[in-house]
Formats: sequence, C-alpha cells, structure tokens
Amino acid sequence: MAAPVLGLVGCAAGGLEQIVPKLIEPMQQRGWQVVVTLTPTAATWLDATGDIEKIEQVTGYPVRWKPRLPSEESPHPAVDCYAVVPATSNTVGKLALGLADNQALTQVCEAIGLGSVPIVVFPRINAAHARQPSWEGHIAALQRVGVHLVMGDDVWPLHDPRSAPGKELPWAAIIDTIVSAAQTR
Ligand SMILES: Cc1cc2nc3c(=O)[nH]c(=O)nc-3n(C[C@H](O)[C@H](O)[C@H](O)COP(=O)(O)O)c2cc1C
Repeated sequence: MAAPVLGLVGCAAGGLEQIVPKLIEPMQQRGWQVVVTLTPTAATWLDATGDIEKIEQVTGYPVRWKPRLPSEESPHPAVDCYAVVPATSNTVGKLALGLADNQALTQVCEAIGLGSVPIVVFPRINAAHARQPSWEGHIAALQRVGVHLVMGDDVWPLHDPRSAPGKELPWAAIIDTIVSAAQTR
C-alpha cells in the first residue's frame, strides 16, 4: 500500500522553524510522505534561514508558496490529510471565511469545501488573538465542518503577546491528532 501523504501547511508563527525535526521527520518515521506548502510570509521566514532547501531535501518535493500557472501541473501528489501547523490567527480567520488569496489557503479552502480530506489545525495564537471579536465565530465555523482543532488549556494555554518566547509547540498532541484524523477518512 502507498504511503499516506500529509499536506503540511506552515504559517508565519512561532514553531515554524522546528517543523523538520518536530513534525516532518516524526511523520516520515510513522510511514508518511510529507509535502509542504507555506504562506507567503512563512516562505520569506524559511527562505531567510535556508530551511526551504532543507525541507525540499528531507521531503523530496518542492516547497510550494506561489500559485501555479494554469499551464502547470501541481508538483505535489494528492493529499490524504492536511495539517495547518503552525496556523496564525490570520490564516485561521481566512480559512473560516473561505478566503483563498494564497497557495496555502487555496489548497485548504478547497479541502474544506470538498469535505473528503481530514484537516488538522493548530492555532498558534496568544490571548490577544483569542479576544479579537471574530475569533470565536471563526473557530465555531471550522468545528461545524469537522476541522480537527488542536487547542485548549491542556495543549496550548493562552499567554499574553510576547510573554512566552521559545514556548514549545504541543508536537505530540499535533501528531496524535493527525494520525487519528487520518483514520476517519
Ligand atoms: C516574530 C513574529 C512572530 C509571530 N508569531 C505569531 C504567532 O505565533 N501567531 C500568530 O497568529 N501570528 C504571529 N505573528 C504575526 C503573523 O506573522 C502575521 O499576522 C502574518 O501576516 C501572518 O501571515 P500568514 O497567516 O499568511 O502566515 C508573528 C509575527 C512575527 C514577526
């Protein structure tokens, strides 16, 4: 049987710099192929550190962040599960509203509409993001369509902005959620 494919979507938030050792390699060790798409801002962050090249070496696939031309084929295989990790408050809000103004959002918005591919989202947010008046509505909208959200005091207690530098993302909970979400397919 072919290895399942994880479509990892990375946003410009803390923890993005750790996706190779903390998420991509552990998923590969569990028998998954991983293909990576970044938001445009996330791509500028990882381009500056040389990590885009590293991800391409580790995954064997180009990292996507630009929309393809109509004449081009997607360089990634079909995905069995999406994981938006880390997800910014910005991208969570756009996903809930169906705004697809970059390659990462285009892929996940379409997957939400199709409803056949499980989607895991880890909102890497702080207490101020959660107090934004639209936040609860965005989360409720994503929950209504079955998006698997990794959130709550047990996995990611909310901190004030800039009060938790270097805080480790809940990688074990993220991986467990991806593995169990994929079984719901
Ligand atoms: C150093 C730095 C850290 C940031 N960390 C976060 C974060 O953890 N969560 C978040 O929602 N936004 C964070 N932001 C803000 C986002 O990068 C910003 O809203 C950006 O427009 C998000 O773009 P994207 O959703 O397309 O990746 C951070 C910005 C900077 C400069």
